[in-house]
Amino acid sequence: MTDVPDVSLNDGRTIPQLGFGVFQIDPAETAQAVRTAIELGYRHIDTAEMYGNEKEVGEGVRSSGLDRDDVFVTSKLNNSFHRPDDARRAFDGTLEALGFDHVDLFLIHWPLPTRYDGDFVSTWKTMEEFYRDGRARSIGVSNFTPHHLRRLARETEVIPSVNQVEVHPFFTNDDVRAYGAEHGIATEAWSPIAQGGVLDDPTISTIAERVGKSTAQVTLRWHVQLGNIVFPKSVTPERIKANAEIFDFSLTDEDMAMISGLDKGEAGRTGPNPDTFDMIPD
Ligand SMILES: NC(=O)c1ccc[n+]([C@@H]2O[C@H](COP(=O)([O-])OP(=O)(O)OC[C@H]3O[C@@H](n4cnc5c(N)ncnc54)[C@H](OP(=O)(O)O)[C@@H]3O)[C@@H](O)[C@H]2O)c1
Repeated sequence: MTDVPDVSLNDGRTIPQLGFGVFQIDPAETAQAVRTAIELGYRHIDTAEMYGNEKEVGEGVRSSGLDRDDVFVTSKLNNSFHRPDDARRAFDGTLEALGFDHVDLFLIHWPLPTRYDGDFVSTWKTMEEFYRDGRARSIGVSNFTPHHLRRLARETEVIPSVNQVEVHPFFTNDDVRAYGAEHGIATEAWSPIAQGGVLDDPTISTIAERVGKSTAQVTLRWHVQLGNIVFPKSVTPERIKANAEIFDFSLTDEDMAMISGLDKGEAGRTGPNPDTFDMIPD
């Protein structure tokens, strides 16, 4: 793998622009998948309490033989735990499951504005505690829209280092990315290939043929050139390898514009709208 660029965060730390996502990887397969990704050069893993595989992510990192500090690990606060005391217990549980004394990045997974009396502010203030005590080296949010972020800016002290949101060619999420760019919040793009949905697109396929790469690689390269942080998920070693081979070619401005032009707005979402999503697991 060619060297992966680091993205600078607003708290002085850095994050590898390419990582490995483990959503929907069976816990039984997770340690091996993480180990394969690390062997292939990945140094950034994205998990969440909600994915049920934090323990296996920790095992995979340890089994790689690398030092803990050589791998950037993100996890997320599950939707059931937004109240401060629950969040404190949940964060302890995340560290215990991973078997680490810190995470590199901890996120509020969803804002849940229709739950908890609309209060994600006290949740964020609790995240600030984890940042200040050093157990979360960086803190951020996921699925926040500009009006959620404006509220945090008004009512809390630490600006989120990242906002992890759905972004891919069919849902370019421009207003959220623009808010982040303006306020120093790095954008992490989840479902970067729309869970495979963009792979048969004729526009991307034509570009892929011309540059001699796959449609997945071209799509991931589009993200990289936009400045997004990406962590495609795969349990297939050949795909894990190929998804990292995106730093040895570039797209022209015209290619970039054509791919961005595939945006379908709201109709392009594969996941829920953060303003209405209210799922709290049992
Ligand atoms: N914060 C949030 O709310 C949120 C929501 C969703 C996702 N995420 C994060 O974002 C990560 C990535 O998103 P995602 O897992 O939803 O979707 P994704 O990475 O866009 O797509 C994963 C799917 O694409 C397939 N795939 C991967 N590479 C491929 C390639 N080179 N060629 C063909 N098919 C390929 C995988 O199949 P195989 O595995 O069978 O190879 C899998 O079915 C997640 O793992 C998670 O870490 C966060």
